[in-house]
Parts: sequence; C-alpha cells; structure tokens
Amino acid sequence: MKMRIDILTLFPDMYQGVFEESIIKRAKEMGKVEIYFHNFRDDSLDPHKKVDDTPYGGGPGMVLSCQPIFDCVAKIRTKDSKVILLTPSGKVYKEKIAIELSHEKHLILICGHYEGFDERIRTICDLEISIGDYVLTGGEIASMVLVDSIVRLLPDVISKDSLLEESFSNQLLDYPTYTKPAIYKGLKVPEVLLSGNHALIEKWRKEAAYNKTLEMRPDLVEGDKNGTL
Ligand code: ADE
Repeated sequence: MKMRIDILTLFPDMYQGVFEESIIKRAKEMGKVEIYFHNFRDDSLDPHKKVDDTPYGGGPGMVLSCQPIFDCVAKIRTKDSKVILLTPSGKVYKEKIAIELSHEKHLILICGHYEGFDERIRTICDLEISIGDYVLTGGEIASMVLVDSIVRLLPDVISKDSLLEESFSNQLLDYPTYTKPAIYKGLKVPEVLLSGNHALIEKWRKEAAYNKTLEMRPDLVEGDKNGTL
C-alpha cells in the first residue's frame, strides 16, 4: 500500500531538498509514499489572495482565515483522509503517534504561520499535533518532523530489526553503541562488547539502556509501571 501525504503550506519552497535525500527519497523511489504540496493562498477568494486577517476582539498579529484552508482541504479530502493541524496547542507528538499514523492511507497536514488559526479550522481536523513545548515560526518544520518519523516506519523502508532495537520501541532509550577503534584518545569501548559472548552482551545492553534512560529521561522509567526489566 502506498501512503499519500498532502501538505498545506504558504511556503512550499521550505521543503526543497528535505524530502529529496536519504531515506525519504528512497521511500518515494520505492513507491511507498507520494508527497504533494498545496499553497492555500491559491484557494483564497480574496481579490488580493489574502489568507489572514486581524483578530476579533483585538490583539497583536494576524490570524489565518477559514475560507482558503476549508476550500483547499475540501478539494483533497476523501473518506480515507486523516486531517492533521500542526500547532503548539496540539497533542505532544510521540513515537506511539508516529506508529499509529504510519498505518493510515492518506494524511493531510495543515501548517499555520503568523499568530495562529481561526479556531473554526479545528472543526475540519481529526487531530492536532505539537512537536514540543516551544513555538516555531510556523508548522512547516513540524510537518517535516512528522513525515520523516512516519515514512521511516512504512513497511520495508528500513529493516524491521533496526526498528525493534531503537529508542522508545520498549519505552527505553536505545543502548549505547560503539565502533572501531577499541581505544580512541584513551576512551575505551566496554570490555564485554569485545568478548564475543552474545548472552553477556545482551544483558549488558539491557542494563546500559535502563541506566541511560534513568540518567537522561527518568520520566520514561517512571512511566514504565509494568516493568519491562
Ligand atoms: N507551530 C508552531 N509551533 C509548533 C509546534 N511546537 N508544533 C507544531 N506546530 C507548531
């Protein structure tokens, strides 16, 4: 099954290059995903192609208006579409959401800019996502984060083994990895990894992943009430 992704943005040029390299490029070439861009300014019925206006009740900045976005979504939406608004007030994005979205047939990602959206735009969206508790200049970079994290999960884009052994796949961060040389500027690779004893290596990796998670992300260990270790 090929996934289709449509991105609504006022700045399609921002995507130049990002999806033309590495794994996303390969996924497109393999026919796993097709990505389209829509500048919703083209859908504006305003004679000057305006897409925003001042906020009712006063306040700073401009607000994206309903009409261009409603009409643009109406043109591309089908019964299989999941419409997602990128906004700092959305649900915080996690690997679990990426996995769920990787099973969808069609994603429509709406990127805002300026001060925000007319609240009524939320009524045509199935999901609102924030990529973290900070404010970006617009939703474009957030949409790139979603596309990258979802496309790599599509079947055969990268190997199943890599996906099983990575951070968050078991509620922990990934175990530490090393490559040659065994000593670099006096810094040594843990002895056990050179031992060739796979059972010991496995045990060490589990403990090291747990300890690293405890150090860097204690919240993940706290959240692990079922205790995978
Ligand atoms: N637009 C602006 N900031 C954002 C964020 N943190 N996540 C998603 N979209 C945004």
